[in-house]
Amino acid sequence: MNIAVAQSGGPTCAINASLVGVFREALKTPEIDAVFGSVNGIEGIIKDELVNLKSIITTNEDMELLRQTPSTVLGSCRRKLDENDEETFERIMTCFEKHRIAAFFYIGGNDSMDTVEKLSRYVKKAGKDIKIIGIPKTIDNDLPVTDHTPGFGSAAKYVAATVQEIIRDCSVYSIESVTIIEIMGRNAGWLTASTCVLKANGEEAPHLIYLPEGDFDIERFLEDVRAEQAKHMAVVVAVSEGVTIPEDQLEGSYQNGVTDNFGHKYLSGIGKALETIVRDRIGCKVRSIELNVMQRCSSHICSKTDIDEAEQIGSYAVRAALAGETGKTMVFRRISDIPYVVKIESVDTALVANKEKSLPQAG
Ligand code: F6P
Repeated sequence: MNIAVAQSGGPTCAINASLVGVFREALKTPEIDAVFGSVNGIEGIIKDELVNLKSIITTNEDMELLRQTPSTVLGSCRRKLDENDEETFERIMTCFEKHRIAAFFYIGGNDSMDTVEKLSRYVKKAGKDIKIIGIPKTIDNDLPVTDHTPGFGSAAKYVAATVQEIIRDCSVYSIESVTIIEIMGRNAGWLTASTCVLKANGEEAPHLIYLPEGDFDIERFLEDVRAEQAKHMAVVVAVSEGVTIPEDQLEGSYQNGVTDNFGHKYLSGIGKALETIVRDRIGCKVRSIELNVMQRCSSHICSKTDIDEAEQIGSYAVRAALAGETGKTMVFRRISDIPYVVKIESVDTALVANKEKSLPQAG
C-alpha cells in the first residue's frame, strides 16, 4: 500500500519535523511502499500533484535538514472543502485510488482538521477503506484537547528571547519611550502570554500585556501606559494581533479586511495603530515592532523538545492508521509537569475541527 501526506495552514518551525515523522515511520513499515507528498495541502490531491518523497528524501542528512527547516516543504493552502461540492470529493477519491493511497495524513491546525473531518466522513459514506488522520500544528496553540501544539514551543521561545532582547535595547536612553510589540496568535493569547516567562525569571517587562481574550479600550490603555510611565522610563507593551480596538473608538480601520477561505481576517496592524495613538495622545518617543513571520520561521532558535515531539506525533499517526484508526487527530496528553512528560493519544477529529482553545481567564 501507499500513503500520502500534506501540510496545511500557516507554517511553523516544527511542521517539517512531523512530515519527517510520517516518512521515517513509513520507511520502517514493510507494508508501506510509496510515500507521496501532496503539493499545497489538499489542493495537491485535488489536482493530482503529488511528489514521491522517497525520491527526494534519500539520506539521513536530508531528514535531519528537513526536521530543522522552517516553512512547509510541500507548500500549503487555506482551502475549505465544501460538502456539497461532490465533484471535488470525487477528484480526491480518484487521486487516492489512482495512487493506491490507503492512508492520508494532514498536518495542520483547527481549520485543516475540518478537512480531515469532512474527508473521513466522505470516505466512510463511500465505503472506502482509506484512513484519514490529522496531525496537529500551529504556533497559535489554540487547538482544543491537546496539551499544546507542535510549533508553539519554538515560537514561544523565539518570542520570549526576542522580547527580552528588545527590552535591553529600548532601555538605553534617559528619555521616556513606549515600545509596542505585536505578536501573532489569531484569537488566542497563548503566544503573547508566553512573554510572561520573562517575569518568572525576574524581568519587570513587558510592563503591559494585552490578549484577545479580554476587552480592549483605548482610554484604559492610555491610563495603563501613563501609570507605567510613572514607574519606568522605557515602557514595553506586548499586544496580541487579535486584540481589537472597538470600532467606535477609532476612525477608519487599521486592518485591510481581507479574509481567508475559512472567513478568518488577516490580522496585522494593531501595534502600528497603538503607536499612532500613543504618539498623538501621549507624545513621547514611541515605536511598534511586529514580530511577524519571524516568530514562526526562526529555526535558528527552535526548541529541541518541540522538534522532537513534532516528529514523534507524526510517527504515532502512521502507527494509528496501521492499527485501523481513521477520522482521528493525534494529541498530547500531559502526564507530569516536573519532570515534563507527555503521552501521545488519538481523539475523534470532530472534537478538534473548527474549535479554538482560548487562554483561560484563570488557573
Ligand atoms: O494560524 C497561524 C498563523 O500564523 C496566525 O498566527 C496568523 O494570524 C496567521 O497564521 C497568518 O496567516 P497567513 O500565513 O495566511 O499570513
